[in-house]
Amino acid sequence: MNPYESHRLRGLLPYPDREANKYSRGHLVLVAGSAAYPGAACLAALAAQRMGAGYTEVVTDPSALPIVQSFRPSLVVRSDETWLDGEPLTASPARPGACAVGSGFDPGDERSKRLLFRALDTADAPVLVDGGALAALATDEGRKRCRERFVCGLPTVATPHGGEAARLAKLLGLPTDDARSLARSLSLAYGIVVVLKGPVTWISDGEAEVCMDEGTPALAKAGTGDVLAGMIGSLLAQALAPVDACVLAATLHAHAARFASDDLTSVSVTPEDVLDYVPRAIAAMG
Ligand code: APR
Ligand code: MG
Repeated sequence: MNPYESHRLRGLLPYPDREANKYSRGHLVLVAGSAAYPGAACLAALAAQRMGAGYTEVVTDPSALPIVQSFRPSLVVRSDETWLDGEPLTASPARPGACAVGSGFDPGDERSKRLLFRALDTADAPVLVDGGALAALATDEGRKRCRERFVCGLPTVATPHGGEAARLAKLLGLPTDDARSLARSLSLAYGIVVVLKGPVTWISDGEAEVCMDEGTPALAKAGTGDVLAGMIGSLLAQALAPVDACVLAATLHAHAARFASDDLTSVSVTPEDVLDYVPRAIAAMG
C-alpha cells in the first residue's frame, strides 16, 4: 500500500519562503566521484541543486576537482584529502544538512571505505550511501557503524540497485528472490532506510514498504542512479524525513524521465535530460 497520495507529496515539496537563505535551504556535503568516474559527482551535484539544496559542496578526488568545478561554477568543490581531516558536518533546524557518499566511487577500494566510514562516524546529520560506497557498507564494520548511528537517532539511507543489494544480502545470508522482503530485511539488519532500485523500486524503513512503479525503462542508462542520489541527498539536507525524501525524490525522478521520454523518446533520453526535466516534474506536481 502506498500511503503517499499526490496531495501529500505536493505538501513535501521544499519551496523556499521569503526569509530563506542559502543555509536555511540545506547544506549537502556530496562526497562523490573518483579519478575513474568524475561525472557521477557532476550529475549528483546538479541534481541536488535542482532539488532545492541551498549550498551544495562537492568533496571529490583531486584529479576530479577541475572537472567538477568547470562543470558548474556555483558548486563549492574541495579535495577529499582535506575533507578527511576537516570539520565534521553538523545540522541544526536553522542550518539543516546532510551528507551523500559514494556515487562514482570505485567499489571496494581503500579510499572509498575511508570516505564512507568518515561520513558515518562524524556526520551529525543524515547520511545517504550510494554506488561504490555500498561495497564498504557490505562489511561487518559498515553494519556496526549504521547500527551505532541508529542507536543515536541519526538517519542513514542506502540506495542499492539489485547487484549492490545482493552484496549486502550475502553478508547477512539473506535470500534475494523477493525485492520487497529484501528491502525490509536489509533495513532491519542495518537500522537504515533502504531504497532498492530497479524497474520497480522498493523503499523500506523496516516497518513498511513503499512501492515505486512510475518509472520508465528510459531510466536504464548509466548515470540515472547518480541523479537520484543527488535528489534524495538534497531533500535530506532540507530536513525532510528520510522516507519522505526517498519517496518524493523517486517520484520526481520517474516523472522527469517520463516527461523527457515524451519529448525525446525512451531511446534517446540521457541522465542529463532527466536532470533538465526535473523542474517540469516539480512544476507539474506543484
Ligand atoms: N524501469 C524503470 N526504472 C529503471 C529501470 C527500468 N527498466 N532500469 C533502471 N531504472 C532506474 C532505477 O530504479 C534507478 O533509479 O534507474 C536508476 C539506475 O540506478 P543505478 O542502477 O544505480 O545506475 P547508475 O548508478 O546510474 O549506473 C552507473 O552503476 O553498477 C554500477 O558500475 C555500474 O557504472 C555503473 C553504475
Ligand atoms: Mg548507482
